[in-house]
Formats: sequence, structure tokens, C-alpha cells
Amino acid sequence: MNGSIAAALRGTGCSVPERVIPNDWFTNYVDTSDEWIRTRTGIRERRYVGPDETASTLAVTAARNALVAAELDPKDLDLILCATVTPDHMCPSTACIVQGALGCRPIPAMDISAACTGFLYAMSTGEQFLRTGAAKKVLVVGTDVLSRTIDLTDRNTCILFGDGAGAVVMTPTDTPDHGIRSIKLYSDGAAARLVHLPGKVTLQPPAGEKQHEHIWLNGREVFKFAVRRMIELTQDAIQDCQAMGVNIDLLIPHQVNQRIIDAALETIGFPASKVMVNLAKYGNTSAASIPIALDEAMRAGRAKPGDTILLVAFGGGLTWGSAIITL
Ligand SMILES: CC(C)(COP(=O)(O)OP(=O)(O)OC[C@H]1O[C@@H](n2cnc3c(N)ncnc32)[C@H](O)[C@@H]1OP(=O)(O)O)[C@@H](O)C(=O)NCCC(=O)NCCS
Repeated sequence: MNGSIAAALRGTGCSVPERVIPNDWFTNYVDTSDEWIRTRTGIRERRYVGPDETASTLAVTAARNALVAAELDPKDLDLILCATVTPDHMCPSTACIVQGALGCRPIPAMDISAACTGFLYAMSTGEQFLRTGAAKKVLVVGTDVLSRTIDLTDRNTCILFGDGAGAVVMTPTDTPDHGIRSIKLYSDGAAARLVHLPGKVTLQPPAGEKQHEHIWLNGREVFKFAVRRMIELTQDAIQDCQAMGVNIDLLIPHQVNQRIIDAALETIGFPASKVMVNLAKYGNTSAASIPIALDEAMRAGRAKPGDTILLVAFGGGLTWGSAIITL
């Protein structure tokens, strides 16, 4: 292990489907309104995949965009990590499909499942490969198509989610005080029931009981969990940044609900002007939420070389985590 080597973000990319689903669309299915969704969540619209699109097709486009930004060829990659809870199949992994579609060398490729925190889990895994020298160029993708899992009779849940993918290419750096400064990851399986996306593979329901097929969550409890974790993670990162002598230039939280973000920021006293929020356009895209927001922040010049950014995620598992990165 070489302690002086850190993982730097060399390029970012994203991909969202073309089909826009405005809030009004849900009034065809459930008793809701654009006004309720906007004021209770901040979401105005989201994107849904078309019949020929999947988590892997979105991931491949996001990956290509990240490789262009990184000025690298797919054949340069040494490792592909794909965070998703909506893989095309259980086997092959989405990462293997991406490896094949990009035409990479026979490099390792694997999926990581940590719901809305998945991208940070994958990024942390990639960072370990870079630090040890086991890989020099790592592609990390967060991709999800939760539209394929929603129950259009459950107004509490169906309005929340959108589809998309985001990607980063990471390479080693020995520039001091640069790259990933810290990643902290957590889980609490005792509270797993609060967010549930059933698998259709191994677990059999008791005889005579219907197996649930859709994503389900306890919105009110997850809301409280999310606010609490966002406060803890951000306060902890602010302390870490103070110890490192850096300021946070941009906070990119998991994009789930404007009220979660506002409640946390108000408690912490963190300025809203330093927070990247794009959930009005995309809803909650799960593992793709942070890398899509990161890519948009980079391309809009809101996150620039030399800036220190804080990524904060929380979601099913339950899982949560943060990353401090100097670009
Ligand atoms: C889901 C969420 C938007 C609901 O907002 P909320 O303010 O907590 O609303 P509540 O659950 O307290 O419900 C309030 C009322 O609105 C109703 N309601 C829920 N969804 C509605 C909708 N789409 N349209 C209209 N009314 C709705 C509820 O039925 C409830 O009615 P009641 O008081 O008659 O029972 C919010 O809790 C949330 O964002 N939770 C976290 C999201 C999440 O879990 N993300 C995934 C993991 S990160």
C-alpha cells in the first residue's frame, strides 16, 4: 500500500433517458397533484427509460461520456465497478455488460449493491485498487431504472423515482492534498424493512402469500433517517475538513427530497448557495443521483479544479456515507 497515492477524478459523464415524466402524469393513476409533489418533494419531473433501455444501456452512455472527458480509451481501463439495485440480470452483472459493450480488455468488472449510497461504496472500492496499485484507471458507474419497479397504485412511492446513470473515471495522483481525501461508509441492516425492493430470484414467499414485486418504502421514517444522517455526515465532514485546513466549496447530497436537504442545512447552518440540487429535473435516481449531479456541477463550472467537494448519500439497506474530494 502506497500511502502517498490518492485517487483523483479524471473525468465525469452522465446519461438520462429522453422520456420526460411530468408530475401531472401521475394523476392518471393515483390521487395526487403537481402541487402536492412539488411542495412535498421539490420534484417537477423525472426521466423514464424506453422499452429498449436498461440500467446497462444508460451506464454505457454515461461511461463513454466520462471516458471522453477523461481523454481515455475504453482499452485503457483496468477495472469497472457498477453500483445498481436494478441490474439487467442477476447474472451477468451490469458491469460485465458494460465491459463488453465498451470493448475493454478482459479486466475485472463487478456490481455493487448499496442502493442510493451505492456510488460511494463503488468509489471507495475503486479507491482501494488505485491506492494499492492493483489498478491505474478505474471506471465507476452508478445506474438505476427504478421506474421498472414502481407500483402505480402507491402514491406514497411512485412519484419519487427517476432513471439515469452517472460515471467517473478515477486515476492515481501523487499531487499532495488532491483527489479523494476520505470516504466513510455505514450500514444498518436492522432497519432494512424501511426501504424494500424485492428480489425475484431466491427468496420464496410463504405458501399462499403473494410476493411483493414493487419498491416500497416507509416515507415518513426514511425522511427522518435521511435528515438525521445528512446532518451527522455533513457535520463530521466539516470537522474533517477543518482538520485538513480546507473549506467545502460544494456539497452534493443524494437527490431525494428538497425538504430533506433544507431541513439538514438549516440545522447545520450550511449555505444553500454551496449545495448542488437538481432533483426537480430527475427525481431520485438512486445510485445515479450523486454522479449525475457531480457531472452537471463539473460541466456547469460549479465544481472546478482545486475545489473541495463533499458527497453525502443515504438510502436503502439502510446505508449511508460521505466522500471528501479535492478536484
Ligand atoms: C415520501 C414523502 C415525499 C412523503 O412526504 P411526507 O411529507 O412525509 O408525507 P406523509 O408520508 O407524512 O403523508 C402525508 C399525507 O400525504 C399523503 N400523500 C402521500 N403521497 C402523496 C401523493 N403523491 N399525493 C398526494 N398525497 C400524498 C399521504 O397519504 C398522507 O395522507 P394522510 O395524512 O391522509 O395519511 C417523504 O416522506 C419522503 O421524501 N421520504 C423519503 C423518500 C425516500 O424514502 N426515498 C428513498 C430512499 S433515500
